[in-house]
Amino acid sequence: MDQKKLHFEFAREFEDFISLGGGHVTAAICASAPAMLFDPGVSAFGPLCLKELRARAKSTDNLIIALSHAHFDHCGAAAYLMRKIPSARLAASGKGAEILKRPNAVELICRLNAEYEKSMAAELAGEDVSFAALDVSLRLADGDSIPLDSGRVCRVLETPGHTRDSLTFYFPDTGIAFIGDTAGALEHGFIHSPYLVSYEDYLASIDKIRSLRPRAICMPHSGILAGDDVERYLSEAAAAATAYKDMIENYLELYKGDQEKVVERITAEEYDSQPLHIQKRQPFILNLRAKVHAVAAWVESKRL
Ligand SMILES: [Fe+2]
Repeated sequence: MDQKKLHFEFAREFEDFISLGGGHVTAAICASAPAMLFDPGVSAFGPLCLKELRARAKSTDNLIIALSHAHFDHCGAAAYLMRKIPSARLAASGKGAEILKRPNAVELICRLNAEYEKSMAAELAGEDVSFAALDVSLRLADGDSIPLDSGRVCRVLETPGHTRDSLTFYFPDTGIAFIGDTAGALEHGFIHSPYLVSYEDYLASIDKIRSLRPRAICMPHSGILAGDDVERYLSEAAAAATAYKDMIENYLELYKGDQEKVVERITAEEYDSQPLHIQKRQPFILNLRAKVHAVAAWVESKRL
């Protein structure tokens, strides 16, 4: 697909917000009181995350680990951190809370994290970072606020589309929003549009974030964008989502609604012809299948 190459300068810090790592190694710390840790990343990232927390947060007492959604590369290190910090509390949406204790979901999260544990075995030096079922003590819904010290709050917005359980966390005082994968991710100058459950919801969630007029947005796979880049990124993310939908829609027409043929065609064009990828091939295909399905559902809904 022809798409212009975009350039954004990502920062690692904004006010008291710190973004760690990149790629699948994701996490962000807000040095509030109590401290908040967002999407601690894959399980193998747990020890580094803990070290950074101890160095950057005023205290880890009553830490709130907030999950934007229950994907393995966002929640993987939460089990390790909950074991290490007994006073920590876990926050996620009600839907996310259900996923995090469902045996088949836990098994999948463990399996996907194990690949990273294997490749980082030398650094982990035998430390048990394994994922396990999690109890969410703060079940969050749209409009909720998490009270912090000194009257500070973290507002919660439901921003589905990427997944059903996706949340955005917004600090009205500093104007920073941790948006998870709600508005995709930038890779090699292109914005991925991961509307795995609904194309329409994905666009509506981007609009919801835009309406906050945040001063900065933190995206776990990339870092922090601030100033004019916030609106520029969000508008490009919406445009990229629509362009990708148009491409899928055209292929669905070409292959007379055969979704698997569309998946094969896009995989060949977009994945197999490129040498470098953040994502492994199997998850790429699974996600693509979900997107093709979401667009087919959207096309169908327009027909009715
Ligand atoms: Fe995700």
